[in-house]
Amino acid sequence: MAEEKWVVMVTAQTPTNIAVIKYWGKRDEVRILPINDSISVTLDPNHLCTLTTVAVSPSFDRDRMWLNGKEISLSGSRYQNCLREIRIRGNAVEDKEKGIKIEKKDWEKMHLHIASHNNFPTAAGLASSAAGFACLVFSLAKLMNVDEDASQLSAIARQGSGSACRSLFGGFVKWNMGNKEDGSDSVAVQLADDKHWDDLVIIVAVVSSREKEMSSTSGMCESVETSLLLQHRVKEVVPLRVLQMEEAIKNQDFTSFTKLTCADSNQFHAVCMDTSPPIFYMNDTSHRIISLVEKWNRSVGTPEIAYTFDAGPNAVLIAKNRKVAVELLQGLLYCFPLKADTDMKSYVLGDISIVKDAG
Ligand code: ADP
Ligand code: DP6
Ligand code: CO
Repeated sequence: MAEEKWVVMVTAQTPTNIAVIKYWGKRDEVRILPINDSISVTLDPNHLCTLTTVAVSPSFDRDRMWLNGKEISLSGSRYQNCLREIRIRGNAVEDKEKGIKIEKKDWEKMHLHIASHNNFPTAAGLASSAAGFACLVFSLAKLMNVDEDASQLSAIARQGSGSACRSLFGGFVKWNMGNKEDGSDSVAVQLADDKHWDDLVIIVAVVSSREKEMSSTSGMCESVETSLLLQHRVKEVVPLRVLQMEEAIKNQDFTSFTKLTCADSNQFHAVCMDTSPPIFYMNDTSHRIISLVEKWNRSVGTPEIAYTFDAGPNAVLIAKNRKVAVELLQGLLYCFPLKADTDMKSYVLGDISIVKDAG
């Protein structure tokens, strides 16, 4: 085979993560440095995830990327920063059998083709940017034989999308906001692995798979500029909540976990309302789901279901255990009329469809 004909490729799959203490607001827009710590749970890698293939070949004449089958531009600073940071750290790769040799210094001039696919709605408030950029950085690091641990890679994924830094780990993850100007200490760390608190079952109710009108990036920028509630949240609320959430996770204290998760989701959406002009990510169906869960928890006495909504109308419901999850699915079926759905490969209930993520 002529030397110009070879292609080396790597494919990786990365799950999305859902914040239970939300990141909303940046102190540095370029490096993507947040104004508060956040905590998330990473979903099962086989459910909501991104699949990305990265390829390098001497026959490629420029970097190109396809997202969900459509070519997109890589000229934005987020893609450029991730590509640059990985390329700098690339190491030699050799396959003697195939006569392929890539030197460390070659990575800067060799071009890439990237194909990525999300198996869930993109830009609809289910953290596609998190799974997407984590998968991009992880697959590029594998391709270029980068020798960095998950925390170091998280600082690169962060520069693609803040929430992406947390998807490099499974289980419960904290993104430390850090305080260094260069962002080197703004990294994700694992609080507990995916075996910890095995009883939990996460149910994602896709209320709408439409692309949101206001991206997370623009939304949080407007909140930082205009919301007084956000200033209060960052200074007075989140620091204590993060400590309490770490305790709740460590002790598998579902009552405290639910209280904190629901309160933080509600405060995040209140901040959106407090932004000028106000941002509405949730819709009537989201509100009906909140009411259903609140009534449920009140009627049983101790909480059995936590809810949280990212920057979109879709609900992430966390059931205390499998028994509750089954009852919850039945409850949702009762409250929302049945409708056929073929593309979501999910349980479908009228205007909400349910992707079940067995923990
Ligand atoms: P979401 O709530 O889905 O995270 P965002 O507004 O934060 O929505 O981000 C959506 C953007 O993330 C997309 O417009 C795209 O630029 C980027 N993105 C989504 N999926 C991928 C992917 N698989 N690979 C690279 N970038 C992605
Ligand atoms: C509501 O990470 O999507 O999901 O850093 O600008 O790419 P950028 O924003 P993004 O924001 C996520 C906001 C959130 C909360 C969270 O995931 O913590
Ligand atoms: Co996002």
